[in-house]
Amino acid sequence: VIFKESKEPSILVAREIAHLIKLKKERNETCVLGLATGSSPIGVYQELVKLHREEGLSFSNVITFNLDEYYPMERSNMQSYHYFMHDHLFNHVDIPPENINIPDGKVSPGNLKAYCIEYENKIKDLGGLDFQLLGIGRTGHIGFNEPGSHLNSRTRSITLDHITRVDAAPDFLGIDNVPRKAITMGIGTVMDAKRIILLGWGNNKAEILRKTIESSINSEVPATYLQEHNNTTFILDEGASSEL
Ligand code: GLP
Repeated sequence: VIFKESKEPSILVAREIAHLIKLKKERNETCVLGLATGSSPIGVYQELVKLHREEGLSFSNVITFNLDEYYPMERSNMQSYHYFMHDHLFNHVDIPPENINIPDGKVSPGNLKAYCIEYENKIKDLGGLDFQLLGIGRTGHIGFNEPGSHLNSRTRSITLDHITRVDAAPDFLGIDNVPRKAITMGIGTVMDAKRIILLGWGNNKAEILRKTIESSINSEVPATYLQEHNNTTFILDEGASSEL
């Protein structure tokens, strides 16, 4: 779906999420949300905060799982996804702190594998993700599933692509400060979500979105796997869709 600018669709996506949260609440069920970082979802989070403040949308039945985190990374670091999510959403709504799951950038290397399996099992035990919000990186990554990631990949540690580190460099005041690794949900984890929305804004995403939507499914552009998902919508602005 193509919109002129990102503002209007961000509001619509937030409303879809709010509708799901309320529906689940009426049924006395938890709502399991997969959340993303980066600039793309910020408008959605702003609208969710607004719906909480102005319309009383409650997050008391919401359990969240973030896609990824840099590794290693301190929670308190301003570049951490932990910091980002609290700054843009969690600090402003009534989600119980114990319902927030973000990969831990401080887990020891020896415990990393077991930690990732545990993260994955936690999602599975809740019946999977009801909704997954995604952005896309210029390498075609979703979460931090860089080129070469397989369809059946699960939560794991990954080495970041050079382009991803270049794109993150301004946030870290130089590429030398960008971590080389990350923890990310796998493609398989994302593909199990019941509903997926990918947001793409601006001209610098146009080329990778053309490849994602128009090339055949291949591990060199991991986002192409979404073509096989039965309930995914790509929401783009004019710039991001300019090469389709
Ligand atoms: C990071 C995140 C991705 C995100 C991407 C794009 O790499 N790990 O989940 O989709 O950035 O970021 P932006 O939305 O700022 O373009």
